[in-house]
Amino acid sequence: MSSTDYRARRATLAARMGRTGVAIIPTAPEQMRNRDSDFPYRHDSYFHYLCGFTEPRAWLVIHGDGRSTLFCQPKDLEREIWDGYRLGPADAPARLGLDAAHSVTDIDSQMPRLLDGSETVWFPFGIHKGLEARVEGWLASVRGRARAGALCPQQQRDLCGPLDEMRLFKDATELDTMRRAAAISAGAHVRAMQECARRLRAGEDVREYHLDAELLHEFRRHGSQFPAYGSIVAAGANACVLHYRADAAPVRDGELVLIDAGCELDGYASDITRTFPANGRFSPAQRQLYDLVLASQDAAVAATRPGARFNDPHDASVQVLAQGMLDLGLLDRNKVGSVQDVIEQRAYFPFYMHRTSHWLGMDVHDCGSYLEPDELAQATPRRDPLSGDTVIHRPARVLRPGMVLTIEPGLYVRPAPGVPERFHGIGIRIEDDAVVTGGGCELITRGVPVQADAIEALMRG
Ligand code: GLY
Ligand code: MN
Ligand code: MN
Repeated sequence: MSSTDYRARRATLAARMGRTGVAIIPTAPEQMRNRDSDFPYRHDSYFHYLCGFTEPRAWLVIHGDGRSTLFCQPKDLEREIWDGYRLGPADAPARLGLDAAHSVTDIDSQMPRLLDGSETVWFPFGIHKGLEARVEGWLASVRGRARAGALCPQQQRDLCGPLDEMRLFKDATELDTMRRAAAISAGAHVRAMQECARRLRAGEDVREYHLDAELLHEFRRHGSQFPAYGSIVAAGANACVLHYRADAAPVRDGELVLIDAGCELDGYASDITRTFPANGRFSPAQRQLYDLVLASQDAAVAATRPGARFNDPHDASVQVLAQGMLDLGLLDRNKVGSVQDVIEQRAYFPFYMHRTSHWLGMDVHDCGSYLEPDELAQATPRRDPLSGDTVIHRPARVLRPGMVLTIEPGLYVRPAPGVPERFHGIGIRIEDDAVVTGGGCELITRGVPVQADAIEALMRG
């Protein structure tokens, strides 16, 4: 992204706020991990989306006419010797294409002046701890200068509304970065699969962390800054724990391994899950469940196209999974009835308890409303068959070109009475990243195979 591209984004946001608005966007705080050690620093996604600046302790102010001011760390030789280079307010405007910059140490004295004369102050609600109080303090300062002619904003509005809508639709540059992130992650999955089979063939000990190390190596080797989220490397029955992390469990011959991992590249996430046999060959029971999950993903992919609703891929997956649960005896027809009954009563829920998709972008669970903005008034109460609670249903978002979502059905079989023993402890998820296109969707993560035969062939090699 060039500074001109960021300027265009700020102009779009300013047009959506209107000329009487002013927006305040802080970047993320640094987080202490433990004494003197910080977590790796990661900027705030909204902030980065609007200016591309990655230093901590920075704030962006965007005026209704599109002019913008940055507050950033001042140059400080001693701090720069310890912590690294700082751009500083003198060079920031030219480098970042901004109109002005000040030291962040002057923010409390400068901000009331920047807010003076606007009607509405916009900032992200509910994201930055203490931000509301900070803004209130600045507004009080503007009001305190009323007798000197200052005009204090009368309204506060949530900046996430217009920004989420902008971020939901990825432009060509964003899609290019996301395709590159997806390709790196796909390569990392290939590497982990091959290394797993190789180590087992060689009679070596294989632990979940060995495979995690392969993923990390491949991410970093290609310039990814970090994993986009905590990698899941789950051997055997650990795959049935949805938020399992890569740990130290042994990866055993004959078991499946579920890896859910994706890199972040230049601020954009990828998110891939593959499930594979540790030794490179699916057992008949593993293969039956695997092919069912894959068929459910195929159905969801076919349902991902412009004009469809966000929930359509999920409903398509559930239809296939529910039928498969009856056919394979995970559910007893005499107890749960027909496939329609299974869906209506959510009887599939013990084996498939998460949604099929989420938006993907700068954040792995990206921002963007899951409801269709023009249809929010169409709220109908429904009774949830499992909890008995009343839930409000609103029409789901209509898919449009440029939206990016994951498609990630799964099946998780915990041992339970009536559940065929050969399926016990099998957890499978298959996850790809889909860009909605003019005619359907593009899967950008298929650099790693997904057909069972293709996975076996890859792991033989
Ligand atoms: N890896 C997080 C997710 O799949 O949603
Ligand atoms: Mn996901
Ligand atoms: Mn995932």
